Amino acid sequence: ESIENRQLKQLHDDATKLYQHILMNTEMGQNALDYLHNRGMTDEDITTFQIGFAPEKSVLQDFFNEKKLDYQILRQSGLFIENQAGNLRERFINRVMFPIRNQNGQVVAFSGRLLEKNKDLPKYLNSPETPIFNKRDILFNYDLAKKEIRTEGNVILFEGFMDVIAAYRSGVKNGVASMGTSLTNEQIYLLERSTSQLNICYDGDDPGQNATNRALDLLTNQTKMKVGVLVIPNGMDPDEFVTKNGKEAFLELAHSARETTISFKMNFLKRDRNLKNESEQIDYIDQVLRVLATIKTPFEQDIYVNQLADEFKIDKTILRQQLVDLVANQP
Ligand code: CTP
Ligand code: MN
Ligand code: MN
Ligand code: MN
Ligand code: MN
Repeated sequence: ESIENRQLKQLHDDATKLYQHILMNTEMGQNALDYLHNRGMTDEDITTFQIGFAPEKSVLQDFFNEKKLDYQILRQSGLFIENQAGNLRERFINRVMFPIRNQNGQVVAFSGRLLEKNKDLPKYLNSPETPIFNKRDILFNYDLAKKEIRTEGNVILFEGFMDVIAAYRSGVKNGVASMGTSLTNEQIYLLERSTSQLNICYDGDDPGQNATNRALDLLTNQTKMKVGVLVIPNGMDPDEFVTKNGKEAFLELAHSARETTISFKMNFLKRDRNLKNESEQIDYIDQVLRVLATIKTPFEQDIYVNQLADEFKIDKTILRQQLVDLVANQP
């Protein structure tokens, strides 16, 4: 490892400790600490995930000036923004700081969350790519989750930091987050080395469910892992679900509510459709058959055909005939 990279990691480690100290022990961090407590986060969570706070005042600069750190290292760290004149100012201001760790548990980047909605600023601000931070390669919390993924035999993929942390608090410690973007091939490869079952647990709202549907389509061609879905009811985020319904409820959901790709799609196609309306019902059945036509295992296909036939009181042989026609007409 280059001297430069080691210095960059040391810098992130120092910044993590400083931000954490500000959150936990200073007046400047009090609002942020209340905010996190109000969202159900415990001091144990804060310690485990090394959460901190970047205040209004430029704290990093003073700290690093004292240490007489190399300007080039500071510049490359992504913790500062450089202006035209070549002066550095801090990138993260007034944000709750989530350290992003690499596979070895070293902090290599940050994501900072605003305490309040601000229409001019992004809710989360992330470190840019740096010599030690390749976004494509990193999954939030993979280092801590790795062992648990192996023992549980599956990994749970969340959208965000707060979701991973709330799950962890509930005893569900095999969670990682792609941090709002779809999985990259590098991230899939990382997960494939630890498990053969991937469970998607995105937000229960429309964007989250649409993203789940898209992820399923992309993943089926990209991974050998079996893919399942955990649906959070009532449009909630996993984090909200834990806060509202308690840890045990989430633990229970994580262990028992797994849907297969196909049953997720069957339910997903029901969203925004009024199945009491005859033409919408016909359209629904047609769409579901197109999904069932993609199943390669005959007995598995048969299970869903039976479900569909029972639900809509249709003759199974007719559904099967329709499937044969669909498969024959596939490109
Ligand atoms: N994200 C991001 N930049 C944004 C918004 C979101 O990088 N401006 C990423 C973050 O990693 C975030 C994830 O996408 O955790 C999911 O976004 P969202 O569901 O909007 O945020 P939550 O994780 O639910 O955050 P919170 O509960 O704090 O609102
Ligand atoms: Mn408090
Ligand atoms: Mn979301
Ligand atoms: Mn949320
Ligand atoms: Mn969310």
